[in-house]
Amino acid sequence: GATSAHTHEDFLQCLRLQSKYSASISKLVYTPIKSSYFDVLQFSIQNRRFNTTITPKPLVIVTPSNVSHVQAAVICSQKHGMHIRVRSGGHDYEGLSYVSVLPFVIIDLINLGSVSVDATSNTAWVEAGANLGKVYYSIAQKSGTSGFPAGTCPTVGIGGHISGGGYGTLLRKYGLAADNVIDAQLIDVNGRILDRASMGEDLFWAIRGGGGNTFGIVVAWKLNLVPVPDTVTVFTVEKTLEQYATQLVDRWQCVADKLHEDLFIRVILERVNSSSQPGKTTIRAAFNSLFLGKVDSLLPLMQESFPELGLVKEDCTEMSWIESVLYFAGFSRNTSLEILLNRTQPSVRFFKAKSDYVKEPMPKVALEGLWKRLFQLEMGSGQLIFSPYGGRMSEISESSVPFPHRAGNLYQIQHLAYWDEEGIKESRRHISWIRRLYSFVTPYVSKNPRLAYINYRDLDIGVNNLQGNTSYKQASIWGIKYFKINFDKLVHVKTQVDPANFFRNEQSIPPLSCGI
Ligand code: FDA
Repeated sequence: GATSAHTHEDFLQCLRLQSKYSASISKLVYTPIKSSYFDVLQFSIQNRRFNTTITPKPLVIVTPSNVSHVQAAVICSQKHGMHIRVRSGGHDYEGLSYVSVLPFVIIDLINLGSVSVDATSNTAWVEAGANLGKVYYSIAQKSGTSGFPAGTCPTVGIGGHISGGGYGTLLRKYGLAADNVIDAQLIDVNGRILDRASMGEDLFWAIRGGGGNTFGIVVAWKLNLVPVPDTVTVFTVEKTLEQYATQLVDRWQCVADKLHEDLFIRVILERVNSSSQPGKTTIRAAFNSLFLGKVDSLLPLMQESFPELGLVKEDCTEMSWIESVLYFAGFSRNTSLEILLNRTQPSVRFFKAKSDYVKEPMPKVALEGLWKRLFQLEMGSGQLIFSPYGGRMSEISESSVPFPHRAGNLYQIQHLAYWDEEGIKESRRHISWIRRLYSFVTPYVSKNPRLAYINYRDLDIGVNNLQGNTSYKQASIWGIKYFKINFDKLVHVKTQVDPANFFRNEQSIPPLSCGI
């Protein structure tokens, strides 16, 4: 309406007036009248659900190329009452980094993505707009025996990823990405640049997993790199129902969290064509693994802890750690490492996901119920990913960072529904499928509260009032599921650093206000 048009003109004027920035910032600002606005907006969108003609669009996109631009954008949006969304890699499952029902501005960190690795101290300063692939690539350029324990998808942004925890194939050995952050640069609500020392330990704690767009804008993280051997081993062993997939998954549930911490075996479950019965489909369990060592050490470990899988040398491939990054990202062996710098996904689909934590092995009837539900959707549309916990994850205390899912969890489930057809009908069909699946699995997963992983954001579990006046009680519905007891400390920190709730979205921590 007229008011928002007026406000956003004032906002743009303010950016121009911040004379310190004006010379360079104008060309980094996009409004819908600029022809490149849609390219910039759509560039990092990962979920087609939020890339339709009816999706609300930002009034302005600002793409800062230095920290002072981020400060100017915060100061001007504060001054003119503009709602902002911060975007790093754009992988938010519910599109919260680039969609809002309020008139809004996107601060997109796409141009703030430098990575600087210091091999001597084994640390790296990484700007928030860098993608995980660039982080891994830059580490490998400097050292063949260092790595970083973050996600498997190279296009994920490090800004949002660490803001929600962040895990990958190294989690059983080294924990989460957020567990390995030692400093940060944050722009607070007043536009000040803070580092660990000046922000204080409580705020530094909160930004390592308490959710993005809540405490300020992270412009860089300092990472502690971790040692990896010069040779690692990978395998993917696939078993269908006819090859006893159910029994093997059942067994996996009992061993996956107790395996040696150098060994990570996740299971990916999907409906596929049956090779033994033409015209029929089956469920395939893919046991997908990284071992931090050579095949000769892996085989006896598997023989001792999971002989039922029948792993043999021929199933395994030895490679460097950085090659294993390509392997888990789905690239073939001889792909050049430079592919890790590529930020565009080969295919972007519609999707909806949910997460769960499993504390006791699910009975066979539950597994069979899951298979039955995978059979209800066409192939390629439903997927379950079981990721093992244990190891280092069980040693880190629940309150070390905001992410609370530590000892006592056997594994995490990610439930996924994908589709390619546009339209409300298809979207309803898939979303109602995943909601029924989630409801079916209720008795077999964590309870009171039923836990969830914030980086697999799911707005079904509860949302804030977007006007900014959400009560503690209302937010704790979703907050306790993501953060357990840490939710209280997050509310406390938020109340200290952003009492007017400037940085907010559908699932950001609300500050306590008088009387609530
Ligand atoms: P995006 O830019 O969308 O930001 C996510 C949230 O953080 C938003 O609320 C945003 O406003 C906020 N934010 C972003 N940058 C910020 C900044 N600099 N300062 C403050 N707030 C900021 N997870 C995982 O743990 N392991 C995995 O292997 C994978 N794999 C994976 C694959 C694919 C294809 C997708 C789509 C997602 C994953 N994820 C994942 C989930 C991923 O960790 C999660 O979506 C992250 O929040 C994405 O961070 P981005 O910066 O890309 O997202």
